[in-house]
Amino acid sequence: MSFPKDFLWGAASAAAQVEGGWDEDGRTPSIWDILYEGHTKHNNSPREACDSYHKWREDIALMKEIGLKSYRFSISWSRVIPQEGIVNPKGVKFYSDFVDGLLEAGIEPMITLYHWDLPMWAYEKGGWESDISEDFRFFAKVMTEALSDRAKWWITFNEPQVFVGACFTLGNGAPFKKLDENGIGKVSRHVMLAHGKAVMAIREAAKQPVKVGFAQAAKCFTPWGPSEEEIEEARYHTMDGYVTVRGNIWWTDPMVLGQAPDSLKPHLQAGDLEIIHQPLDFFGFNCYQSLNYTESYKFNPPTPRGLPLTAMNWRISPEVLYWIARFFYERYKLPMVITENGMANLDFVMMDGKVHDPQRCDFIIRYLAGVKKAVEEGIPILGYQYWSIMDNYEWAEGYDPRFGIIFVDYENDYKRYLKDSAYTYAEIIRQNGENLPEASAAAFNYI
Ligand code: BGC
Repeated sequence: MSFPKDFLWGAASAAAQVEGGWDEDGRTPSIWDILYEGHTKHNNSPREACDSYHKWREDIALMKEIGLKSYRFSISWSRVIPQEGIVNPKGVKFYSDFVDGLLEAGIEPMITLYHWDLPMWAYEKGGWESDISEDFRFFAKVMTEALSDRAKWWITFNEPQVFVGACFTLGNGAPFKKLDENGIGKVSRHVMLAHGKAVMAIREAAKQPVKVGFAQAAKCFTPWGPSEEEIEEARYHTMDGYVTVRGNIWWTDPMVLGQAPDSLKPHLQAGDLEIIHQPLDFFGFNCYQSLNYTESYKFNPPTPRGLPLTAMNWRISPEVLYWIARFFYERYKLPMVITENGMANLDFVMMDGKVHDPQRCDFIIRYLAGVKKAVEEGIPILGYQYWSIMDNYEWAEGYDPRFGIIFVDYENDYKRYLKDSAYTYAEIIRQNGENLPEASAAAFNYI
């Protein structure tokens, strides 16, 4: 068994990271547009990003050239709901035209409602520290009414582990605050309620059968060897042994199984789990690296010397997609979409006018080999979205890290260049993954 014919080969982005046009056509600011000041590398702001708000037709043409079957993007909440309860028709039209453009190019839209750009108006009434789940439900309803006649794939939240688990504990993302345990519990509850209500709103307003899910930040430890004990040890540390707001099951157990881990229970109220636990059509996850090599975690024998690194100093660990798909499927039994995977590289336009990124070409092949193995074992993976379609605003890291398969020259009218990796990926898509190597040959650690 190999990749299904309708496998969603895609790439991903997020509104705040690519759109720009931050104050155009009735849009009001998000927390990132305002609060970035003093917190980001070179004080970079997301206000202009990649100018996709103006260049979206060109972007879709490039996606078509690569042969993408799907594109995951997010909606800027404050572009469509610029004030509490007020819909901005121009904002809605932007996304409606965008969806039409994708479909004309034969690309399936995959919509994320929340990729961290909370409207300032919602922040001013308390943000996620207060219960704004009804506002989120309204946003979900408006977008579903506008787009679900054409868009089938819906994602409520991107990585609560990061925008709650990291941003509110380390204070390294907007709103750049650190909360205590109770504060984190409260924010988690509000986000989970908003997820549940959005799923209900999408189902109620949908104009055709839709696929609803989320995009979790997958935290995965991989086995150091083939024995059952080693596999069980990695599974344990990935799931039941890692129960904090930054781990997996704090979020996915309540959302998928309707069960709260003990440490979350004190923060929930009667009736919450019924709202949070909604039937889902797929389990989306973002995954970049195995945690085996991150020394702050307990489960790591000494890190092998000289393992390959990305420009974010993340370990290249291709075995991780196989293992996390397997561990998630064993526990949650939902079909899966890999909603993000990719690497930052030190790309630039070379003397021949092209962007050669052999590390990324190799990265994509290696990681996808693990996905292929999972598919061959019968694990239902419906799609893979490379992060990112183009270089973009990497939050507190500003514009330095380049994750794209399309290079963006920010200082020269945001000119786009297809990198070599775009062609590598295009060929994999064309062959529906048949040209990928054996996983065991592609991995650095045990697979
Ligand atoms: C996020 C993206 C981010 C990427 C690379 C994910 O955590 O969803 O917004 O750019 O990782 O850091």
